[in-house]
Amino acid sequence: MKRNKIDGEAQKRLPRHVAIIMDGNGRWAKRRLMPRSYGHRKGMDRMIGLLEHAYDIGVPYVTVYALSTENLERPKEELDGLFDLIRTHFAEYMKKICARGVRLRILGDPSLLPADVAEIIRKAEEDSAGYEGKGLNIALAYGSRAEIVRAANIAVSRGKTLTEESFADLLYTGGLPDPDLVIRTGKEKRISNFLLWQAAYAEFYFSDKMFPEFSDGDFDEAMEAFSKRVRRFGKTDEQL
Ligand code: IPE
Ligand code: IPE
Ligand code: MG
Repeated sequence: MKRNKIDGEAQKRLPRHVAIIMDGNGRWAKRRLMPRSYGHRKGMDRMIGLLEHAYDIGVPYVTVYALSTENLERPKEELDGLFDLIRTHFAEYMKKICARGVRLRILGDPSLLPADVAEIIRKAEEDSAGYEGKGLNIALAYGSRAEIVRAANIAVSRGKTLTEESFADLLYTGGLPDPDLVIRTGKEKRISNFLLWQAAYAEFYFSDKMFPEFSDGDFDEAMEAFSKRVRRFGKTDEQL
């Protein structure tokens, strides 16, 4: 395992599952008088570096919000740029990450993506299907409300009464641990239709940095902050 700057306490109390809202790619590029697609390219590179770092310090599950259902309404040129990034870089990047024993899962509706892009991600998921214990979830063409409605419709079609556990199993994240920590970069302080069910008891960490400039050290700071949070899950301090 790589040496890192996190202190002993933070290392002992790492989140098991970190979810990241990677926001700010467009503004980062705009400030450099560059097109938004350049920001997405840099954001994708940064994400790969950050994932390697997260698994190296011992975080087993990471979820990345890469494209929301609402983002699909963006200008065609921007979306084409994003899909081209997947076409040219995704397979190679996923090979690198999954070689660490990480299982890839895509959260979202692949039918909303161009067919060749959906096929690339399906193949990457299949290639890592044998791994267990570490996971990377990429939310792509993902909306939390759509996910919940989809699960509800599956339940209705089966005519079953649900428990919280059996409902959670019908979500894209079925079988995975809930996020302990949600990090959002890019200065905004909102959830933007991400993991509404799963983040019921997550801690939140907001960074003013735009995603392409969110460093491994910044991630470590989020780990430190998380290690100091008191999670009560509705109980009193005395009950913990
Ligand atoms: C987040 O960055 C990545 C995606 C939504 C695809 P943005 O593209 O939202 O960047 P800003 O918020 O406009 O800076
Ligand atoms: C959230 O970012 C979605 C992703 C990071 C993929 P947005 O940029 O779409 O969020 P809003 O529109 O500012 O809420
Ligand atoms: Mg944004």
